[in-house]
Amino acid sequence: VEQTYIMIKPDGVQRGLVGEIISRFEKKGFLLKGLKLFQCPKDLAQEHYKDLKDKPFFPKLIDYITSGPVVCMAWEGDGVVASARKLIGATNPLQAEPGTIRGDLAIQTGRNVVHGSDSPDNGKREIGKFCNSPVRCLSALQPILLQHNMHTFFFRL
Ligand code: GTP
Ligand code: MG
Repeated sequence: VEQTYIMIKPDGVQRGLVGEIISRFEKKGFLLKGLKLFQCPKDLAQEHYKDLKDKPFFPKLIDYITSGPVVCMAWEGDGVVASARKLIGATNPLQAEPGTIRGDLAIQTGRNVVHGSDSPDNGKREIGKFCNSPVRCLSALQPILLQHNMHTFFFRL
């Protein structure tokens, strides 16, 4: 089944938009497979945005993504990658249609509240990078997650 990596960026967390953003994917009908609150280290941010490393805004982008906790999520469903990109809206929130997350909730490209993978392959890869890195594990939770066929995400204790 198709999965995508959705990340609520530090501004989305700081502005109290976590529930609002999750709600949009839930209402659409996609399945939340795993979630964690996470402080993205600099090297992971650089690797995540490596295609943009020659852009003038790259250092600012890395500072932004590492400036506070993010919410890492795996969402599942037929066509979830492209559909999530539609729900999120255009990169520049001023160009994003009303009704999209960025169109309704943001103004600046450099503070556009949420990330969504741009292909199923990148979805898999990004879920692997952000969601399956062991930090410290609540081991009692693992069998329960497996029983529900969910990702065994880890929690920073
Ligand atoms: P993501 O879902 O975060 O990958 O956004 P995207 O796929 O809509 O855009 P893209 O991958 O091209 O760029 C990644 C992120 O870099 C954007 O979401 C912005 O946060 C940031 N970014 C892109 N272009 C600019 C820019 O011109 N200025 C600034 N400050 N940030 C930019
Ligand atoms: Mg992108």
